[in-house]
Amino acid sequence: MLKVLATSALASVVASPLLAQTYGLGRPALPAEIAAWDVAVEPDGTGLPEGQGDVLTGEELWVENCAMCHGDFGEGAGAYPVIAGGQGTLRNPRPVKTVGSYWPYLSTVWDYVHRSMPFGNAQTLSADDTYAITAYILYSNGLVDDDFVLSRDNFTEVVLPNADGFYVDDRIETEFPLFTQEPCMSDCSAPRTIRMRATDLQSTPEGAVTVFAPDRQPGAATEEAAAPEAPAAEEPVQEAAAEPAAAALDPALVAAGEGVWRQCRSCHQIGDGARNGTGPALTGIVGHPAGAAEGFRYSGAMQEAAAAGLVWTPEELDAFLADPRGYMRGTRMSFRGLRDAEDRAAIIAYLQSFSQ
Ligand code: HEC
Ligand code: HEC
Repeated sequence: MLKVLATSALASVVASPLLAQTYGLGRPALPAEIAAWDVAVEPDGTGLPEGQGDVLTGEELWVENCAMCHGDFGEGAGAYPVIAGGQGTLRNPRPVKTVGSYWPYLSTVWDYVHRSMPFGNAQTLSADDTYAITAYILYSNGLVDDDFVLSRDNFTEVVLPNADGFYVDDRIETEFPLFTQEPCMSDCSAPRTIRMRATDLQSTPEGAVTVFAPDRQPGAATEEAAAPEAPAAEEPVQEAAAEPAAAALDPALVAAGEGVWRQCRSCHQIGDGARNGTGPALTGIVGHPAGAAEGFRYSGAMQEAAAAGLVWTPEELDAFLADPRGYMRGTRMSFRGLRDAEDRAAIIAYLQSFSQ
C-alpha cells in the first residue's frame, strides 16, 4: 500500500507538478480503477466486452429485474419509461420515444442498461446478462425473432429503425455566419418595381377607373388639354393614374423643393418649354409613365421598367430618388440620391407643381 502511494505520488508529480506541489492532495487513479469506470460502449462497438445472450434468457432476466418498472413487454408500468413500441409516433404531438422508435444506436442500450439498470441496483448485471436483456429489448420492439442471439460479434450488424433520424448539428456553419453579419439598419428591403398593373391584366372592371380618378372631372380634362405639355407624354397620363389635386400641394413644401431642384437642374429641365438634356424633361412627371419623354434615349433598364408599366407615382419617385441605382439597376441617372425623406417629399411636391 505504502509502495503504491509512493509510486503514485511520484506519478502525480510528473503528471501535474504544480497541483501536486501546491495541495499535496489525491493520487492518480489506478488502471484497474479507471477500467472499472471506463465502461462506455460506442456505436462502432468499441468498449463491448466478450459475451453473448439470447432472447429467451433475456426474457427471464427481464421479468426478474426489469418488468416491475418497465412492464412485462417493455410497455412501461406506472410512470416508468416505456422501452418498446411507439414506432411511427415521433411526429405525433405526444411521441412515444423508445429504443425501437427513437434511439439511434444499440450501443446506447447496452451501455445504459449495463451502467445504470436495474434502477437502484446498478452495475450488477454481467456482460452476458446485458447481451441477453438487450436481445430481449430488440425482440420486444419486434426487431428480431425469439431465437436471436446477440454477441459482440454480431452487435454492430443490428441497425435501429431511427438510426438516420439524428444528424450532426451544422448550425455553426449554416446559421451562425448569417446571424453574425452586421445587421442592416436602413433601406434594407430590395427596391420594388411594378411589372404589371391590374388594369393591364384586365382584371379590374372598367368602371373602377372612375372610382379611382375622382378629380378627373370634365372641367379638369379641359384645363389639361389646354396646358402646354408634350403631346406624346400627355396621352398615357390620363389612363395611368390620377394626379393629386392642386389643392393638395403645400406651398412651403414646393418652395423647399425648389431648393432641392438645384441638385437636379444640371441634368433636367422642367416647366414650359423644358427640353431634354443629360436627363429627360420632367414636366408633368408625377403620375406619368416612366421612360416616356419624347426623343430622350433612356437606358435599357428604364425602357424595361417602362415596358413593365412603371408609373412615377409619388411613392415610386420617393423610392427612386432615395437611391436611383439601388432602385433601378443600370439606370443612366448618375445621381447619388436624396437620403433625406424631407428633401424627397419637397422635390416631389416641386415636380408635382409642374404637373398641374
Ligand atoms: C425500480 C424501477 C426500475 C427498474 C427495476 C428498472 N428500471 Fe429501467 N428505468 C427506471 C427509471 C426511473 C428510468 C428513467 C431514469 C432516468 O430518466 O434517469 C429507467 C430508464 C431505463 C431505460 C431508458 C429509457 C429511456 O427511454 O430513457 C432503459 C433502457 C431501462 N431503464 C432498462 C432497464 C432494464 C433493462 C432493467 C432491468 C435490468 C431496468 N431498466 C430496471 C426504473 C427502473
Ligand atoms: C447627373 C445627371 C442627373 C441628375 C443630377 C439627376 N438626374 Fe434624373 N435622370 C438623369 C438621367 C440620365 C435619367 C434617365 C435615366 C435612364 O434612362 O435610366 C434621369 C431620369 C430621371 C427620372 C425618370 C424620368 C422618366 O421620364 O422616366 C426622374 C423622375 C428623375 N430623373 C428625377 C430627378 C430628380 C428629381 C433629380 C434631382 C433630385 C435628378 N433626377 C437628378 C440624370 C440626372
